[in-house]
Parts: sequence; structure tokens; C-alpha cells
Amino acid sequence: MPATVVVGTQWGDEGKGKLTDLLARDMDVVVRYQGGHNAGHTIVVGGEVFALQLVPSGVLYPHITPVIGNGVVVDPAVLIEEMDALAGRGVDTARLMVSGNAHLIMPYHQELDRLTERFLGRNSLGTTKRGIGPAYADKAARVGLRVQDLLDPKIFRQKLDVALREKNPILAKVYNRLPLDGAAVADRYLDEYAPRIAPLVGDTVSFVHEALSAGRSVLLEGAQATFLDLDHGTYPFVTSSNPIAGGACTGAGVGPRQIDTVIGVAKAYVTRVGAGPFPTECEGEVSDLLVERGHEFGTNTGRRRRCGWFDAVMLRQAVRLNSLSEVALTKLDVLDPLPVVKVCVGYEADGERFEYPPYHQSVLHRVRPVYEEMAGWQEDLSSATTLSDLPEAARSYVRFLSEQVGTEVRLVGVGPGRDQFVHFAA
Ligand code: GDP
Ligand code: IMO
Ligand code: MG
Repeated sequence: MPATVVVGTQWGDEGKGKLTDLLARDMDVVVRYQGGHNAGHTIVVGGEVFALQLVPSGVLYPHITPVIGNGVVVDPAVLIEEMDALAGRGVDTARLMVSGNAHLIMPYHQELDRLTERFLGRNSLGTTKRGIGPAYADKAARVGLRVQDLLDPKIFRQKLDVALREKNPILAKVYNRLPLDGAAVADRYLDEYAPRIAPLVGDTVSFVHEALSAGRSVLLEGAQATFLDLDHGTYPFVTSSNPIAGGACTGAGVGPRQIDTVIGVAKAYVTRVGAGPFPTECEGEVSDLLVERGHEFGTNTGRRRRCGWFDAVMLRQAVRLNSLSEVALTKLDVLDPLPVVKVCVGYEADGERFEYPPYHQSVLHRVRPVYEEMAGWQEDLSSATTLSDLPEAARSYVRFLSEQVGTEVRLVGVGPGRDQFVHFAA
């Protein structure tokens, strides 16, 4: 049975958690394929809010096996805390599997993330300061420690020793910080974390392949989003992994031919946390309304999200980069009170028109969005359950986005709750 990918199409927080949870009803396995606890995936069930960082969003269903894939970077303290918090709320996490090949976030990664951000000053990226970038950098430099190293104290201590021989002089000499005590770090990871993580560690690649061969359904859950992708996002204002659908192949260990559906999650407008270009960003009343109605504050860091109009140029690119089969459009209800809604249908810069983002970042920084305006619906959508419950103006808006992007919108979100969505058909 082929796998399905859920991927963010903008700058994150599109509602991937909610969609994954929704689809997980009919799935057997949910695999997180990249990122770490920079993610915050929210699921709202009967008024209860779950904000997941590392544990895959299918976890709330007892029939799901949640898997943390090899492409994820794992802070074991955060994972344990998250599992305990879920257990405290009656959610069993004993079924969770963690890839032995996933890399560990170490204390020096967090420290270096904070320090480099501070040293960049006004050029800082606005990272989540969780150590994500430094952990992926060590992975690429082949000096990272992996989850499987927790199972072998001798190897763990050796690798940590090698790492600290480089990290401690950087902390001390470049950043004027105290060096880390290797023995104390090793004791914490091996004595405190390893006993909790060890029972979960396994060969997730074989597990996923066996599940697919047995006809079980597998959902690959992305974190972050297309325009935070290390290769295809607005570099350097990106994360350090590949959230795009291709990242699901490397991060879960499946080939492209094993995926047949890629669902792109898009907000009915756009948000971004952290620095970087954002052509349709709004200020003033519209932005305040979106922040307030959409509760646009980071699930994780509490930062106010920057807000703007829906950008079809970005979405067209997301369709190509991910080979999207369909779009799930979330948070349409947030636009309810607006008398006029705008959609960016193209960019202009230097007398040129762009249907896709210009490849050169300095051009992207100076593009002007070309908008089409549409009438708003000014009705409360939050209790809509079928297409006929949506006012014609709301349907026209969704149809227009779908035409502009060239991909079908199949689901429309009308509220944060698990059941607040409408099946859409043009
Ligand atoms: P993720 O990182 O992509 O999983 O998204 P987040 O959970 O960080 O942010 C999405 C936010 O929007 C969460 O607070 C969700 O509860 C909320 N949300 C998701 N879908 C909808 C929707 O259709 N309408 C409204 N009003 N809120 C939604
Ligand atoms: P979910 O999965 C929104 C942003 C950060 C920063 C940039 C780099 O909830 O959609 P990092 O800590 O990854 O090195 O930060 O990426 N960022 C996110 N923005 N949603 C996320 O995750 C994000 N994860 C990282 O704000 O701009
Ligand atoms: Mg989020």
C-alpha cells in the first residue's frame, strides 16, 4: 500500500498537526520525517488542546503506531517530557518507535544556537533556539551522536569526547563561555535518558517497509514547511532540514515510488515567525485581526506570527516542489469578518512579472505583490460541516485559490477542532 505525505506549503503552522490527526483515523502508522522540537503541532479534541513537538500527531489514536524517523533530530529530555505529559493526560506512548539513526540534540547544540543568534545581532534568523541548526550541521559534518549511541555507553562517551574537543574551545574561545563538563553530560544522557529511550529504539525503516508490504497505511508527517526548506526555502531564513515531500523519502527511508499522495497544508492566508522575506505581509488592522482571530502566536515559543494575504505564487511553487496531489486549506474561518479579501496572483519587480518566486533572493526582497480583490462573506463559518453550509462568497474564494494554484482543494478548515472541516468539491 502506498504512503501519504502531509507537508506544509508556506512558512509553517499551517495546521499539519490537525490534518495529520484527522487523516490518522484511517491510518495505521504515522512517521515524523524531519525537524525536531522546533515544531509545534496542535490538535484540539473536545476542547482539549494537545501541542506536540516530537511525538507524531497520530499518537492520540490507540490504533496508530507513531514513529520518529531517522531524519528527525531528537532532544531526549524533551521527548521524555512530552511522553510523560501525554501519559499524564491518559495518552499511551508505549507504542512509539524511535529510529536508532536519528541524531541527538546535545547541550552544546542548544547553547551554540543561542550564541550564534545573539552574535548575528540584527542579522539573526529568529530561530527557535532549540539547537536544530547546530545538530543538523554536526550530522552533515559526520560528528553527530545518534539515538543508537545511547545504547552503547562506551561509544557514546568516545563520540562525546571527540565532539567536545572541538565544541569546548569554540564555547570558551569564540564565545567566552564556560566549557561543558563531558562526564556530567554523558552521565545525564546515559543514566537518565537512555533507560527511558532504549525500549523505543528500533529499525524504523524495516518497520515502515513491512507495514507497507502488509497493506497497512502509512502517513508521513512533515514539520516546518516548503519555504523553510534548507534547499528550496528563503535561505538563509530557513530551517536546517528538508521539510518538502522529498524529505519524507530520506527522513523515513522510503523511495519516491512508495508515495502516491502528497497533501499540502495551506492557511487561507499566510503567516511567518522569525526573520526573512514575506511579500504579502500586512501591517495594521488586517494583521491585528488575523493575529487575534487566528491566535497567531507560536505554539512553541509564544512569538507573535507575522501575517499577510494568501500568496498563490508561493503555492504554485509548493505544488511543483512537492508534487502536491491536493491542498487542505485551513483557517478559512479566520477571514470571516473581512469585507474584502485579497489574493496575491503574481509578483512584479524591475518591470517583470513573476508567476513563480524569482530564484534570486534580492529580487524576492523587492517584489511587489499583484492582488485580486474579492468580496468577503462576513458570516460565521465555524459550524459549517458540509459544502452547502459555506456561503457562496467563501466558496468562490476557495475556488479562486484552487484555480490560481492549479490544484484541487479537498478539505477546508473552519475551526481548530478535530471535526471543524468541510469536504470541498469545486
Ligand atoms: P502546524 O505546526 O502546522 O501543526 O500548525 P500549528 O498547530 O502550529 O498552528 C495551527 C493553529 O491553527 C493551531 O492553533 C490549530 O489549532 C489552529 N487551526 C488549525 N486548523 C484551523 C482552522 O481551520 N481554523 C482555525 N480557526 N484554527 C485552526
Ligand atoms: P511547525 O512544524 C513555524 C522557523 C523559525 C525560524 C526558522 C529557523 O510547527 O510548522 P530553527 O529553530 O528551525 O533553526 O528556526 O524556522 N521555524 C518554524 N516556523 N513553524 C515551525 O514548525 C517552525 N520551525 C522552525 O521561527 O524562522
Ligand atoms: Mg506549528
